[in-house]
Amino acid sequence: METSNGKKPVVVLEDFWRTYRSGEVEVHAVRGVNLRVEEGEMVAIMGASGSGKSTLMNTLGCLDRPSRGRYLLDGVDVGRLSKDALSDVRNRRLGFVFQGFNLLSRTSAIENVELPMLYSPRCPPRAELRRCAEEALEQVGLKGRTQHHPSQLSGGQQQRVAIARALVNKPSLLLADEPTGNLDTRTSIEIMAIFQALNRKGMTIVMVTHELDIARYCLRQVVMRDGVVVADQPVADRLDADEELEKVLDEQAAIQLVAER
Ligand SMILES: Nc1ncnc2c1ncn2[C@@H]1O[C@H](COP(=O)(O)OP(=O)(O)OP(=O)(O)O)[C@@H](O)[C@H]1O
Ligand SMILES: [Mg+2]
Repeated sequence: METSNGKKPVVVLEDFWRTYRSGEVEVHAVRGVNLRVEEGEMVAIMGASGSGKSTLMNTLGCLDRPSRGRYLLDGVDVGRLSKDALSDVRNRRLGFVFQGFNLLSRTSAIENVELPMLYSPRCPPRAELRRCAEEALEQVGLKGRTQHHPSQLSGGQQQRVAIARALVNKPSLLLADEPTGNLDTRTSIEIMAIFQALNRKGMTIVMVTHELDIARYCLRQVVMRDGVVVADQPVADRLDADEELEKVLDEQAAIQLVAER
């Protein structure tokens, strides 16, 4: 399936509803969303708390299914798949990054990165697995930290391990729910620099963020309110994370100089 501009849609949501039921009460967390994300896009999902962002992401991530409507991932109707087929799709096509990093604490960086492949039926031989994990860590600038445990790494470095783990299966879609939520400004920009570099190489990225500044590193912003999409537009004043990082470093150097006087 191709669109008129020749690009392949990675995500297609058609009249997507998700209703939670607890006893007699029904909560329509998402109500009839239509969304199309093409290959190579970088999309920020925004909106107030409770607007349905995580519910939407859970379906995009094949952790959940639509109550009504359809979700096509790379053209495959995910709602029709069995549980096993769904977890295979998740394993093969998707990478996840979470706010809280979700790393195993007693395990080295490289072992954390190897983990998703270890559990995959397509797990390569040991040496190949190590090579893939090393390559992923190198991509996020952590070549020299492969044997460190999470407690020996900064928050930003832990998030980079988590990004490497998300990349190791070579997914077609990278999903992130508040990836910079636990990080300071400078570290957040560093993470966005990695996302932008991946996106320049063609990776499709969908991320939830509360922060307007962070959304400005994306190419497109989708805003949700009460379970519906109320705005969907390109980012007019996109920020370049490498440039912003230089500015922050200059500022920090200037503050240092003043402090030393
Ligand atoms: N498992 C569940 N059972 C019942 N209701 C739920 C469940 N998960 C979410 N909801 C409800 O669905 C709505 C959307 O929740 P969701 O977690 O998607 O919001 P969100 O936009 O991610 O919010 P936040 O910014 O706080 O993370 C909320 O009203 C929430 O209370
Ligand atoms: Mg949420």
